[in-house]
Amino acid sequence: MSLVNTRIVDQIAILEIDSPPVNALSVQLRSEMIAALQALGEQPKLQAIVLHCAGSTFICGADIREFDGEPLAPHLPELITLLESSAVPTIALLHGHVLGGGLEVAAACHYRIALKSTNIGLPEVGLGVVPGAGGCQRMMRLVGVANAVKMATSGRAVKVTDPSYVSLCEHLIDNQDDLLEQGLAWVQRQLVENSLSVKPTSELALDTEAEKIDWQLFKKQVQRSAKSNPAPLQLLQQLERYWPLPVAQGEKHTRELFLQLRQSTEAKALRHAFFTEKKMQAGRSKQAFSIAEVAVIGAGTMGSAIGICFADAGFKVILLEQSQQALERGLKRIEDEYQRSYERGRISQKQRDQRLALIHGSCDYASISEVDLVIEAAFESLQVKQTIFKSLDSVCKKAAILATNTSYLDIDVIAQATSRPEAVVGMHFFSPANIMKLLEIVKADKTSDAVVDQMQQLAKKLRKQAVTVGVCFGFAANRIYTRYGREIQQMLLEGASIELVDKAMREFGMAMGPLAVQDLSGIDIGHNARSAYPHPSHDPGYFKVSAALVEAGRLGRKSGSGFYDYSEGSARLDAKVEQIIATVAAELKVVQSEFNTRSIAQRALLAMISEAVQVLDQGIVQQKEAIDLIWLHGYGFPRAKGGPMFMAQQWGIAELEQQLSELREQHGDKIWPSLNLAKYLA
Ligand code: COA
Repeated sequence: MSLVNTRIVDQIAILEIDSPPVNALSVQLRSEMIAALQALGEQPKLQAIVLHCAGSTFICGADIREFDGEPLAPHLPELITLLESSAVPTIALLHGHVLGGGLEVAAACHYRIALKSTNIGLPEVGLGVVPGAGGCQRMMRLVGVANAVKMATSGRAVKVTDPSYVSLCEHLIDNQDDLLEQGLAWVQRQLVENSLSVKPTSELALDTEAEKIDWQLFKKQVQRSAKSNPAPLQLLQQLERYWPLPVAQGEKHTRELFLQLRQSTEAKALRHAFFTEKKMQAGRSKQAFSIAEVAVIGAGTMGSAIGICFADAGFKVILLEQSQQALERGLKRIEDEYQRSYERGRISQKQRDQRLALIHGSCDYASISEVDLVIEAAFESLQVKQTIFKSLDSVCKKAAILATNTSYLDIDVIAQATSRPEAVVGMHFFSPANIMKLLEIVKADKTSDAVVDQMQQLAKKLRKQAVTVGVCFGFAANRIYTRYGREIQQMLLEGASIELVDKAMREFGMAMGPLAVQDLSGIDIGHNARSAYPHPSHDPGYFKVSAALVEAGRLGRKSGSGFYDYSEGSARLDAKVEQIIATVAAELKVVQSEFNTRSIAQRALLAMISEAVQVLDQGIVQQKEAIDLIWLHGYGFPRAKGGPMFMAQQWGIAELEQQLSELREQHGDKIWPSLNLAKYLA
């Protein structure tokens, strides 16, 4: 099937590109576009060439699937050169997402006409590469050097109407249905007025403001956001050095960088993250979606944030609390959060007001009798939750889905408090729920498939990355996170310092050190959750450090001290904590070891992988990709490292076996059991 069809109307050639789903620039599309342009070069009396894409979007960029192999000819720069050097004006009609190579194609055309809703961007750095076909150089000439640099090094897309980027297009159109018709009418008008000349972007001048760019400021911004991904900084350094060069020369440098980066481990990891997200979202449902109005039980930090999540996605929300006072505090928290988003420019005043208007408070269970879904986000106690579910069972309509946001408790037991366990499901949000993308959908023993299907559809609407998991302590995410936490604490007992442990994991690329995270979230939270379960007899040191800190009243930031001391505002190391740890270690006769940042990060990662493989083996999670999604979106795992399972794959079975067997020898096979690595890593 051909992907490019050419027709000529009144001496204007229309190249219709139709390569579903997103018109990615595959080798076939590049070849066909080149062939079509070459054929048009021989066409007499042609006055203009218009590029138009079928479907929901203009070209969304390179076909990322091709990046795993060798670059395939014809390459994109060949197509770009043909468009720019065309003897007749070339015009791109833009809609949907004009990204990466798509924007490079558009920028190489002589004119651009866009729907006002169009998004434009150079997202390559997000995939660990850089624009390889002159996108930076041409965008510098179309929207200004600083704006082009910002777009390419941040990877963020913007609306085509954004004042900093609106100069990209000569003409904007309101209505999708009119794009082709009005675009052609514009071209015809210009031809009649004789004002449509050939206008190669490469020949446009650079803006004079470029001399004043504060490159150091750019560098700081890039370093803050790029973390373990080297592409943005390398691109920035190159653009700082070469921006004044003519397009062809500047493009040569970025092309070289693109070719070098595309085979890097970071680029592979980022591609893995991209396709994992798509794969995990892919489930297409045949069921109608039946959730319109929801209720959230509990207006605490979690409940309020869940309420915001739903209102952001356009759902009506009833926030239910026990007392008017608690309810008002929750509603105020929501109002403040929306106000902050508005003041930071994340949402408009209209959006703030619309979303706030969707949320109503109530202290009366009767008011939620007609909602389609309830999410319980009350105190983490089995008894409290059972009582709530009993009430929900008696007031909610028959078709309602009853979800709990518990992070550890047994949902099978919660479900027993109702007469409809098939309607009970876990909806485990991560804090802050309106920001963190991960959502665990917990299928309890009796949860029906239809309910899980509704949850999966809902997750998409909430723009969450959902993983469906089974019931066990901590489900998949907190269970593996607990194993990671256990290993961190064990290394403290073996003599690794607090400072070194946090440094190791920060250097690895985690957003924060694990001990600083504990202080932020409250050491007592995990401690209380674990206390409901018997202490594992095979693991005498199991979270003993946390227990000792809680006993000493060091609960984290909220109590002024935890692993660190906060009495003077910022986190300071405190010799007392090292003392507490040393005492526990001495009591347990823990053998002391030497650590460095590398050995700490490696052991922490091995603990994650070990638990992840067990979680997979026990069927708590079905796909190994879900593990990576959990870590990328729930715990700030560096995206450019792909996730624990991706890293395991990179290490290879032999290397992993060796590392794990050394640990098994030292610490026993209860902590480091033999694993069926081949099943998940082959
Ligand atoms: N190359 C190959 N496949 C791509 C692709 C690309 N550049 N972009 C999207 N796809 C695939 C997706 O994997 C998905 O496949 P599936 O249906 O088998 O799961 C399908 O196209 C639809 O994509 P999806 O993301 O679900 O559609 P959307 O409408 O939600 O979003 C985009 C569309 C274009 C915004 C989004 O897909 C995207 O950001 N793509 C990447 C763009 C990019 O980074 N381009 C620069 C490459 S260097």
